Amino acid sequence: MRCSARRRSSTSCSRSARTTSPAGSSKPCPSTSRRSSPPRRHIRSEGGTAMSTPTLKDEIIEKHGQNALDLVLTVYLNFYYSELEIIDLCARWIPRREDLREKSYLLHHASDEVVHARLFKEGVERLGLVWDEFDHDKYRIDDIDQRFRRLFESDDEIEVLIGLNLYAEGVLAMEELHQLGRNKPEYFPEFARIEREERRHMGFGLTVAKRLLDEDEDTRRRGIEYCKWYSEHLENYLGGELSQTISWAIGQGFVEADYIPRTRARFDETMSKLGLVEV
Ligand SMILES: [Fe+2]
Ligand SMILES: [Fe+2]
Repeated sequence: MRCSARRRSSTSCSRSARTTSPAGSSKPCPSTSRRSSPPRRHIRSEGGTAMSTPTLKDEIIEKHGQNALDLVLTVYLNFYYSELEIIDLCARWIPRREDLREKSYLLHHASDEVVHARLFKEGVERLGLVWDEFDHDKYRIDDIDQRFRRLFESDDEIEVLIGLNLYAEGVLAMEELHQLGRNKPEYFPEFARIEREERRHMGFGLTVAKRLLDEDEDTRRRGIEYCKWYSEHLENYLGGELSQTISWAIGQGFVEADYIPRTRARFDETMSKLGLVEV
């Protein structure tokens, strides 16, 4: 069973290396990505002399600075490792579901995430970096690991549906994919496609969660409590250590000025579909 928190240990630089994430992170650590050695594109001059042309990584640094490259890498790496977690989480619940249609949601969901993981990896490689030749841990966000650990340890399906399909995918990832894909398609060319498929995963979650909530009042009471927990998490996450990074990303045009209110609105809209919050 894969859980990133179990796979890795934090380094002393890991927190300071971070910029943003599937909605989040902290301060950049410019030294981290500088340490990786970017391959440069080589072309031949008329005389046959090898010349290098700037990679996308170089272009990002030149246009926005080192912090922007750290942000782009933090986004890609945290999305990539989140996908691995989601694949395993889907696999954990396949044997527990009895309804064939609901089993198929998990298979479809996991299959999409395999593709997304590959797309996120290719996004890093497109920058001109070699995947295995830089330290990924420095860009990882502990909060994401902690939330996945919480979901892995839960035997309550409504908690997993709210925490994964609705909150992690339907709120945090969707807003981030939407804004980055629209504002910086040159750095995130596949994000619009991925966003469409994340909408499907949210739909799977809504369908199953509605059934569970309608079947049992106690499940509904627990659902309301989980929803409160994630509502508080959202405030602490975006308004806490992330606020500085989001402000920087707004200033550089990576995300819109109302990124935080829009994410809050998406939370309310998503959870209200289950009747867990009143809008
Ligand atoms: Fe995905
Ligand atoms: Fe997903």
